[in-house]
Amino acid sequence: MITLKLEILRRTSPEDTPVWKCYDYQTPDDTANIASALNDLNQTLENPVRWECSCLQKKCGACAMLINQKPRLACDTSLKEFVKAGTVRIEPLRKFPVIADLIVDRTILFENLKTMKLWFAENAKTNGSQTAYEASRCLQCGCCLEICPNFYAGGDFAGMSAMTLTARLLTALPEAQKKEIFKAYQKHIYEGCGKSLACRKICPAGIEIDQLLVNSNAVAVWKRKFRHEK
Ligand code: SF4
Ligand code: SF4
Ligand code: FES
Repeated sequence: MITLKLEILRRTSPEDTPVWKCYDYQTPDDTANIASALNDLNQTLENPVRWECSCLQKKCGACAMLINQKPRLACDTSLKEFVKAGTVRIEPLRKFPVIADLIVDRTILFENLKTMKLWFAENAKTNGSQTAYEASRCLQCGCCLEICPNFYAGGDFAGMSAMTLTARLLTALPEAQKKEIFKAYQKHIYEGCGKSLACRKICPAGIEIDQLLVNSNAVAVWKRKFRHEK
């Protein structure tokens, strides 16, 4: 049996002053996670906690939130971790505007992808490249942006979530089309990234961010193709 106090930072609208609320929670399910706890809790509340989820399988990134001050996926965070302490604090990501309770507006993530023109205009082959595979596992959850000291909404630096898509495009686009992506990478990633790799430790998809950085920096600085791929 898991017995815990869930402390949740709540507000009903963006203008509201947030307030910590504490809920007693108990479940016989040893495999329970933060997502299942929120679902259970909401069955008992007149004013359910607002939060986002879709896959509940660590695949969509929708349930990213701060759990004991760390950006994590609710569906991938076991309650067992917190049993000893007896309490867990849950709040919305701080780098994005809060809509209500644990829901944030992550539009900036997609706006940055549009600014950098990070999409395939037509069918492109990734040639089975390991870099493309690694980069395509990005959930666009925003956890890396939350932890990054250099990212803020409205700034030039687009962060690691844009880096992953840049890396993927660079493995597939014809040389002529890469020029614009090089420029965007220089301005929106290379010049802003302090390379501390704090984002690597936090990425819930476990993406090898350091390897993507090494490859893309090589492209940006020496204008070479990825060293390990043709
Ligand atoms: S790089 Fe990792 S932390 Fe960042 S958006 Fe992608 S999956 Fe999330
Ligand atoms: S390496 Fe550091 S500065 Fe660069 S994106 Fe990751 S956390 Fe931000
Ligand atoms: S609900 Fe999709 S990653 Fe958690």
